[in-house]
Amino acid sequence: MSVTERVLGLIGGTGLDRLGEGQELELRDTSPWGKAAAGFTQFELEGTKLLFLPRHGYDHRFAPHRINYRANIMAFKNAGVSNVLAVNAVGSTMDEMSPGSLVLADQIIDYTWGRAHTYYEDDLQEPEHIDFAQPFSDKFRTKVIQAAEAANIVLIDKAVLGVTQGPRLETAAEVKKLKRDGCDLIGMTTMPEASLAREAGIAYASLCVVGNMGAGLVEGSTIDGMDEVLHIAMQQVRLLVKELAKQV
Ligand code: HPA
Repeated sequence: MSVTERVLGLIGGTGLDRLGEGQELELRDTSPWGKAAAGFTQFELEGTKLLFLPRHGYDHRFAPHRINYRANIMAFKNAGVSNVLAVNAVGSTMDEMSPGSLVLADQIIDYTWGRAHTYYEDDLQEPEHIDFAQPFSDKFRTKVIQAAEAANIVLIDKAVLGVTQGPRLETAAEVKKLKRDGCDLIGMTTMPEASLAREAGIAYASLCVVGNMGAGLVEGSTIDGMDEVLHIAMQQVRLLVKELAKQV
């Protein structure tokens, strides 16, 4: 890779398992961390090399708790990517973050358990404790905010994202509790993705796409209509990513 080459990593999730027809690269083996969910699809966008990885696989075969997050993030690291935008479909506990909203989370509460969540496990030379007070890269978040402005896209740039274990959705009582805890949004995949990115030295931000209101907050079943909402909102995400490709 040349010094001047601009590279952007993009992680897609529910509603964005494919970005388009790019060149598929078989860069999956990330020993000793195992295999990434898929090979990257590579795109040239605004003079930037964009590497796209669907975190669940192109066929969405890995449930949130079964994703090999370590391999996914290491694949970016091995490819020399230093900025990764993650797209996350989420539920909302806030009326002002209604379905279809795009929200750049600025904080996380982690409720996941039992996921392989760190590269620092065995044979350590010294204890390793990353600073995670601010779980997302400020500098990269600013670029995402600027890209949204340039693309005329409404982006809410503050929210606490609660990350639950899934794959089931929450009970109504759990959503009430999550809201009391301070969670504005609820998703299943940002952890341990975000902390692994920090461990790997990758600047990472989470672009949350609200697909539904949290369980019990509206009539009917929780994610009725979510696919349609996400489908429409992802068109905005694509525009934002195009602008972002100019800024990295
Ligand atoms: N809860 C958790 N994860 C989600 C939701 C939700 O309501 N919607 C989309 N991902």
